[in-house]
Amino acid sequence: MEIVILASASEIGVVGAEIIERLIRGRPNAVLGLATGSSPLDVYRDLIRRHRDGGLSFRAVTSFLVDEYVGLSPDHPSSYRRYINEHFATHVDLPQAQLHGPNGLAEDLIGEGERYESAIQAAGGVDLQLLGLGTNGHIGFNEPGSSLQSCTRVKTLTAQTRLDNARYFSSVDEVPAHVLTQGIGTILRARHVLLVAVGEAKAEPVARAVEGPVTAMVPGSALQLHPRVTALVDEAAASRLQLAQYYRDTYAAKPS
Ligand code: GLP
Repeated sequence: MEIVILASASEIGVVGAEIIERLIRGRPNAVLGLATGSSPLDVYRDLIRRHRDGGLSFRAVTSFLVDEYVGLSPDHPSSYRRYINEHFATHVDLPQAQLHGPNGLAEDLIGEGERYESAIQAAGGVDLQLLGLGTNGHIGFNEPGSSLQSCTRVKTLTAQTRLDNARYFSSVDEVPAHVLTQGIGTILRARHVLLVAVGEAKAEPVARAVEGPVTAMVPGSALQLHPRVTALVDEAAASRLQLAQYYRDTYAAKPS
């Protein structure tokens, strides 16, 4: 993994958006994997700025959300479809027909997981997957114990994740117990993974994912098996990394 330690969330936004812009300029019909949560917000903000001020176009881009709550309609205020529209998609020229997410209202949820997995493959696979990291080390909604080869499927949320995400609902009881999420295997098939982590609460999961053993107990650690991961972390999220200075030196000496 390439670990890039940056001073602030806004700097992470700029560097993350730069990586995505470079991809799209070179490949206008790129396939993007999109994440929700607070971590990627600055990346989306900077992509919107690049669209408005720099003419970066998403017209030919196809995108796939990493996960969705089961039981929430796409226009539910806490659905991830609504989130991505509010924070990104409706502010750029990404056609709605090219914005895909798991259907949390599907009657056949097992079939929906399989359909979604096939849709990603039919689109040619994901060129760049943007990801956050849960406080328990989850990626997407792959909770601890998830198979490292899993595909898109239904998962049950842990009590910790429901508590973490209660801020997006009126109470923790409103947080759905089940979700549809791309699997760890799905995520590992993306050609480039861009992981974003911000704040002290992510220091422990970042250290375990980046420097700990590869284990299903820390789903983010599976990214160590991927040949091309860029992790953008702020100083707080990097604070428990044993090799922090080495990562800083490596990035500072990187040829541009
Ligand atoms: C949710 C999402 C994850 C995200 C995580 C971290 O659980 N399903 O995809 O990575 O939150 O969220 P945040 O960035 O808000 O800490």
